[in-house]
Amino acid sequence: MLTLHKAAAALPKPSRSRMCEFLRSFGFDPGKLFLHKLILGIETSCDDTAAAVVDESGKVWGEAIHSQTEVHLKTGGIVPPVAQQLHRENIQRIVKEALSTSKISPSELSAIATTVKPGLALSLGVGLSFSLRLVDQLKIPFIPIHHMEAHALTIRLLNKVEFPFLVLLISGGHCLLALVRGVSDFLLLGKSLDIAPGDMLDKVARRLSLIKHPECSTMSGGKAIEHLAKQGNKLHFDIKPPMQRAKNCDFSFTGLQHVTDRIITQKEKEEGIQKGQILSSAAHIAAAVQHTTACHIAKRTHRAILFCKQRDLLPQSNAVLVASGGVASNFYIRKALEIVTNATQCTLLCPPPRLCTDNGIMIAWNGIERLRAGVGVLYNTEGIRYEPKLLGKKLSFTINSLKSTTLEYWVRSG
Ligand code: KG4
Ligand code: ZN
Repeated sequence: MLTLHKAAAALPKPSRSRMCEFLRSFGFDPGKLFLHKLILGIETSCDDTAAAVVDESGKVWGEAIHSQTEVHLKTGGIVPPVAQQLHRENIQRIVKEALSTSKISPSELSAIATTVKPGLALSLGVGLSFSLRLVDQLKIPFIPIHHMEAHALTIRLLNKVEFPFLVLLISGGHCLLALVRGVSDFLLLGKSLDIAPGDMLDKVARRLSLIKHPECSTMSGGKAIEHLAKQGNKLHFDIKPPMQRAKNCDFSFTGLQHVTDRIITQKEKEEGIQKGQILSSAAHIAAAVQHTTACHIAKRTHRAILFCKQRDLLPQSNAVLVASGGVASNFYIRKALEIVTNATQCTLLCPPPRLCTDNGIMIAWNGIERLRAGVGVLYNTEGIRYEPKLLGKKLSFTINSLKSTTLEYWVRSG
């Protein structure tokens, strides 16, 4: 695990006077009293530099984001030192933009909340060292944020959702099902045994060379697959969902990626085209892979709902399933989840797509949740570290009585 000190040593440290100059540009007055509970949230865990100011009522005062997607699409994936450099180049501008659009002076902030885990070490380091310098100057508390906790709690900014609820977090780096019992009380029910669904969709999109497709060239892999799938027939290729017999709530996406890869290689031979050119059947492949991904995610989630209901971990009526993370912005996957929640008398809630993918609002809101609950608000930041990887505890269980005609019907008929 890297320490902040190591990270800070690796970064060009803007001098104290540069930070003072940055604060003075807002007319910062260190003596002013705080009137509202306003939190500045900063996110740099992966390839988005994002910041937002949110208050206790959930009002978003201002936000700004710089996405690195287009740069990383060109290099065929995220190159950590490139991501770090882009965060360094943009963080000050993005924080300034979030503050100035909210018309908030830094002196009115109650705290700063920043993602410190999990993520890319080099990216996390930029957000953390910037935030620590800012809290030091402003003399306000710091709230370290767990990226997945922030994705899970975003829904409470938009809807009145009480604990406990079930959450499905599906993104480029993560895939998990958890019971959310409180602001920082998560019971992990299942996770991906290999890669995350977003990672798999990004790899398939790259293998299909969708960056060269005129309609998809600036889209993330998952978004490009969703876009292209609308023009394809999902039944054209029969790709079986993985882990059909596993009596748990874990996921797996590597097999799906390899099967799709084999189909693409086969089609390239048949069509007599080179790797890197777009197949005539690209839309059918996109539709089939999206469909199988949706089936797999829906089936594992179904098991988790039944398990929670059997054990009274969720209320019998009005239980809520929250789906978030970049992949949850996919409407085909949402539809599959809706079939599962309808069959189990649950309510499916998803943040709008722009709040499913990484953003500063979810980090600021998580800060508000923690401030309110009085959990993890630091007045002394000495020794604070970022944690690229997490060690998660998993609850093992099996569900034997899994029956739902609606779900089976949907899976068979597509
Ligand atoms: O949550 P997020 O912004 O970053 C991580 O924490 O990973 O998720 C990014 C992932 C990428 O893999 C991207 O391809 C995927 O979410 N994604 C989608 C869609 N939009 C973004 N996957 C499927 N359908 C989409 N519409
Ligand atoms: Zn994320």
